[in-house]
Amino acid sequence: MSPFTPEQAKALKAWTLRYPKPQMGLVEALRDVQRSHGWVRPEDEAFIAELFDVPLDRVHAVAAFYPYFTLTPAGKHRVCVCRNLSCHRRGGDRMLEHLRKRLGVPEGEATPDGLFSYEAVECLGACDHAPAFSVGDELVGAASEELIDKVIEDLKAGKPVQQAPIVIGATGPESGRKLLTKHFGEPELHRLEVYRRFGGYSALEKASRMRPADITSEVKRSNLRGLGGAGFPTGMKWETVPPKSQRDEPHYLVANADESEPGCYKDRALMERNPHALIEGLAIAARAVEADALFIFIRGEYARQKRILEEAIEEARKAGAIAQDIFVMRGAGAYISGCDTALLETMEGRKAWPRQPPPFPTVSGVFGRPTVVNNVETLMMLPAILRDGGEAFAKIGPQGSGGTRVYSVSGDVERPGIYEFPMGAPLSGILAAAGGVRGGRRLKAILPGGASTPVLTAEEAAKARMDFDGLRSAGSSLGAGGLVVLDETADMVETLHIIERFLRHESCGQCAPCREGSGWVARILSRILEGNGIPEDLGNLSRISGNVAGRVICALGDSVGMAAKAMIEKFPEDFRRRIHA
Ligand SMILES: Cc1cc2nc3c(=O)[nH]c(=O)nc-3n(C[C@H](O)[C@H](O)[C@H](O)COP(=O)(O)O)c2cc1C
Ligand code: FES
Repeated sequence: MSPFTPEQAKALKAWTLRYPKPQMGLVEALRDVQRSHGWVRPEDEAFIAELFDVPLDRVHAVAAFYPYFTLTPAGKHRVCVCRNLSCHRRGGDRMLEHLRKRLGVPEGEATPDGLFSYEAVECLGACDHAPAFSVGDELVGAASEELIDKVIEDLKAGKPVQQAPIVIGATGPESGRKLLTKHFGEPELHRLEVYRRFGGYSALEKASRMRPADITSEVKRSNLRGLGGAGFPTGMKWETVPPKSQRDEPHYLVANADESEPGCYKDRALMERNPHALIEGLAIAARAVEADALFIFIRGEYARQKRILEEAIEEARKAGAIAQDIFVMRGAGAYISGCDTALLETMEGRKAWPRQPPPFPTVSGVFGRPTVVNNVETLMMLPAILRDGGEAFAKIGPQGSGGTRVYSVSGDVERPGIYEFPMGAPLSGILAAAGGVRGGRRLKAILPGGASTPVLTAEEAAKARMDFDGLRSAGSSLGAGGLVVLDETADMVETLHIIERFLRHESCGQCAPCREGSGWVARILSRILEGNGIPEDLGNLSRISGNVAGRVICALGDSVGMAAKAMIEKFPEDFRRRIHA
């Protein structure tokens, strides 16, 4: 007998028809299963395996891999509280303790009435709302004991959760030239008509009259570098895509909106306020790389942003602003899905194990097709480049890093929010725009590109310039532009423990140095925090973490080593104090 009602079975079947290949709907179908039953049962896995015509062990591997799925019953309403750095600094652990007492069950277990369960999660992409919490697929806002109680009572009474308005954050008032956030004061910017009033879709019209190679040349002139983390020159990446004249088969283009690096939430804000800029950017890139199938791969927690994007896509299509459809696909709670080669696996309906290039995705991506993966913000820059010309864009930033970039600022700062600055801006100016360190305290450190980028001391931060090369020479990385600010009260052993615990949790387990190294590093740090550190710990931490970087497939493993190395070298006193205390 089918474990599903005829309506549920029909909805699941629809996922096999939604995307260019049936298996691309597998993760979405399992999301439906999790939502309808509160967990993925063995009989559900068997049903999905048959429906998608894939082996049962593959479905089980997917269900076991992604944190969104549970293999034991979760509550009807899953309350998730972020425990990562920016939320930890603002009381996330206290909120978890409150939930434990309030619901009276261990983490992950459903209450006896089956209504609720709670869990600590890694960054929800809402660090401006720290301590952030979500219910089901919806981000609610900044948690407080009162708000959590109210949400629980509302849900018990069958009322919908009142979502706190998602704060876009301020955009830097003194940030000089702005390309993406210039019109953020306009409340209706997400509507096609308003976007058009500010010149929206004129760049796409221009691109439609250009040859693909000429669009790529313009982008190369702009010095646009990928804003998803690696900083690879965008035009150069596109040039590696085999043209249709050489490989006459479907080409794919994916906007990477997975955004799960702790401290980063700028893509969320950009998509929410300015969805048409992403749609226009995707359509321009599609022309340059001759893509036929266009995707936005968005993290599942961005339910609201997904709705806004889908409405905007529909509006743009109906008005004839874009010719093609854009598929929106969701992940299932795994940070590693944001890594481009792992993302391809999630899209194919598998667990997100990164692939070892070569071949690179541009040559062999989704189902072996040429696939370009670009970050949301990278794609959003394209309309400005086409409209004003690559040279004008390049001139905004220093040599080698054109244009502006949008920073997510969070942690111990007065005004968390997103701030747009020209590339090469001094870090101190961004911190000042965000109101400086909270409560008039002294700055201790900054993680400049997201929680897993190497830490900068206050002295280094005072001199740092925010562009790819500038931060590399300062021994860190611009990453995805997530500035996590730590004041003088921050304990760097605790900070490193949170980072390493996150990396261990998110390690996909494929490369032994990352899988084992992240575990050892997190365990040693736990021991030091519990007061049981031994003098050999520092040497062991350096040795173990040093053996991970450079011996793994993807950059997650590199972060395990680099984060630990920088923290131990720059704040040795914090470690010694705990070990000898
Ligand atoms: C563990 C890991 C997570 C990543 N997460 C993201 C992400 O959420 N969004 C993103 O754009 N890039 C992410 N990246 C970088 C992508 O692999 C890829 O470089 C990027 O999407 C390319 O787009 P860009 O060239 O426009 O930056 C991640 C990389 C790693 C190793
Ligand atoms: S939402 Fe908590 S650290 Fe990002």
